[in-house]
Amino acid sequence: MTTPARLAIVIAIAASFAAAQSLDFATYRAKVEPIFLKKREGHARCVVCHAGAGNAFRLQPLDPGATNWTEEESRKNFEAVSRLVNSANLLSSPILKHPLAGTAGGDDFHSGGRQFQSKNDPDWKTIADWARGSQSK
Ligand code: HEC
Repeated sequence: MTTPARLAIVIAIAASFAAAQSLDFATYRAKVEPIFLKKREGHARCVVCHAGAGNAFRLQPLDPGATNWTEEESRKNFEAVSRLVNSANLLSSPILKHPLAGTAGGDDFHSGGRQFQSKNDPDWKTIADWARGSQSK
C-alpha cells in the first residue's frame, strides 16, 4: 500500500471516530433508550436478552425493582450503543441493521427476531435519526 493510501485510511478512521463522538447523549437517553425497554408485540424486550449480554449490544442490567437505568448506567449503555453506529454508512450500523427485517434491508438473522418490520417503524426511525446526528456535525 502506498503512503498516501495509508494516510487516507488513517484520516478516514480519525474522521469516523470524531463523528461518533458527536452522538448526543441527552437525545439518546430521552428517545432511544426507552425503545430498549419497550415491549413489542410478539417479541421479548431488548433489555431481556441484552442486559449483561456477551455480544456487542451490551446493556447494563437494571437494578432490582428499577424500571429505568440510572444516569451512570445510561452512559455505559450509550457508549456501547454508540460503537454500533457506523457514521460513514448509517445503514450498515449494527444497531439499525441487525434488528431490522431482512426483507427491509436488515440482516437475515437475529436471535432476538425481526423487531422492526420496516424502516417506517417509528422506533427504528427514532434510532436512525439519533444515529444520523453523527453525520451532520
Ligand atoms: C430473545 C432475545 C433477544 C431480544 C429480545 C433481542 N435480541 Fe438482539 N441479539 C440477541 C442475541 C442472542 C444476539 C447475538 C446473536 C445474534 O446475532 O443473533 C443479538 C444480537 C444483536 C445485535 C448485534 C450485536 C453484535 O454483537 O454485533 C444487535 C445490534 C441487536 N441484537 C439489537 C437488538 C435490539 C435493538 C433489540 C430490541 C429492539 C434486540 N436486539 C432484542 C438476542 C436478542
